[in-house]
Amino acid sequence: MSDFSNKLIDWYSVNKRALPWRETTDPYLIWISEIILQQTRVVQGYDYFIRFVERFPTVKSLAEADEDEVMKYWQGLGYYSRARNLHTAAKSILGDFPKSYDEILSLKGVGEYTASAICSFAYNLPYAVVDGNVYRVLSRYLGIDTPIDSTQGKKLFASLAAELLDKSNPGIYNQAIMDFGAIQCIPSSPDCNVCPLVDSCIAFAEKLTRVLPVKQGK
Ligand code: ADE
Repeated sequence: MSDFSNKLIDWYSVNKRALPWRETTDPYLIWISEIILQQTRVVQGYDYFIRFVERFPTVKSLAEADEDEVMKYWQGLGYYSRARNLHTAAKSILGDFPKSYDEILSLKGVGEYTASAICSFAYNLPYAVVDGNVYRVLSRYLGIDTPIDSTQGKKLFASLAAELLDKSNPGIYNQAIMDFGAIQCIPSSPDCNVCPLVDSCIAFAEKLTRVLPVKQGK
């Protein structure tokens, strides 16, 4: 395990947020939570998640539901195609929830981020999640100013994320780096004095925290 991952995981064990989708390794529940959290903040998504999985506790119960009822449980969350895709995907799953990255990626509405999240959180498979939090942490820690929204940047950060991933604890490591970005390495005015990675952070050493990550925004 690298020093980077050690420190992140230590930080996470002290600072982690207790969230219901973290108390489970059921891929169905993790899938629902990740779809909700794609465009919804944790505080708002929390209650929707609880209500949704109380009514649809399994992929079969979701597949057998009427679309109207599924939509009712999504009412107020917005981005309603998420709920329609969930329903379509649930109906396409015959039997158990798929177990491989490629099968999960082929579900309607599931992209690389979500497939990696499900594979690592549910099955502890070594896929690195790359979301806004991860872009921020890696660009700062490694001092990389390649725009995160450029083709080159996406490739670069995906390969760095895969390299840094703790292959023996991918699930915990992924949760840790996302929470670290959400709570400690925040977009503006992060409190670097209390950061466990400050000693080896390039952005801190070169006073680049404010300018990283770079977005080309075109
Ligand atoms: N945002 C997206 N996925 C999340 C997760 N698993 N925990 C907390 N916030 C998230």
